[in-house]
Amino acid sequence: MTAASAPGKVILFGEHAVVYGRPAIAVPVGQAQVVVTVTDRQAGGVRIRSAATGYDLSLASAPGDHPLAAIIRATLGELSIPDEPALELIVESELPVGAGLGSGAAVSVAIVRALSEHLGTPLSPERQSALTFEVEKLHHGTPSGIDNTVIAYGQPVLFRRGQPVERLIVGAPFRLLIGDSGVVSATGPAVTAVRQRWQADQTRYEALFDEIGQIVEHAASAIANSAVELLGPLLDANQAALIRLGVSHPRLETLIEAARQAGAAGAKLSGAGAGGNMIALVNADTANGVERALLAAGAHHVLATEVTP
Ligand code: PMV
Repeated sequence: MTAASAPGKVILFGEHAVVYGRPAIAVPVGQAQVVVTVTDRQAGGVRIRSAATGYDLSLASAPGDHPLAAIIRATLGELSIPDEPALELIVESELPVGAGLGSGAAVSVAIVRALSEHLGTPLSPERQSALTFEVEKLHHGTPSGIDNTVIAYGQPVLFRRGQPVERLIVGAPFRLLIGDSGVVSATGPAVTAVRQRWQADQTRYEALFDEIGQIVEHAASAIANSAVELLGPLLDANQAALIRLGVSHPRLETLIEAARQAGAAGAKLSGAGAGGNMIALVNADTANGVERALLAAGAHHVLATEVTP
């Protein structure tokens, strides 16, 4: 039996603009994760069960574009295993689906890890990330690659599409609360909607992406230089730009406003938007009050995480 896990992630700054080549910052969220267990089985072939999504399928009968089957096939291909081994994979995920916490990429990375370890050839983070990226394209057509990167490397990243992974330097720790709006929102449609608006008015949207890119650059130096006090206003500025991009949602804005009122230094949506999660920057004094305020304002649940050097 082999078990492997992968964390979720949150995007701190730069979502959507990152699809158009601007930088973005994301951190793993280790408090919620995916665990995959692989065991040998008597009957032939690979069987996959996922309690979270209710899948119970055999690899042989799964459609080519099924994400779980696709990552298993990609891993077997990478390991040059021609015949389907007799294995059972059980996927257990604490990550909500369609909430911007990278559940799809986390499941893929955990499968690559568990399967490649079970078969005696553990794959590097670079390969885990590359295989997962191929499957991310099935979830939505034009992923930037930020999810698979931050999850496979398991560390904060300053991500630029198509460029080598750059570790985000963290000077001083800071705390975030992650509030789930409860509105399920798939990444694909949100990214497609932005693309359609961009196609209709490239000048306006390129300017917005530039604005977001600059916020990200400022945020990366603030994080590196332990200037945590600069991050709150930068989160708020990024949220304002995301509203203008048209990817916010009234339920997200209610949570963001509640967090600010309760003392958060700044707050914004995180991920594709149109639902999913928001993040709020807190400290030891404000964390409890902001968490209560988020729950009172309708957050389905709140995760706390600390970004550390
Ligand atoms: O999958 P999510 O909700 O974390 O959002 C992905 C972030 C986007 O920038 C919107 C898309 C992408 O591929 O980077």
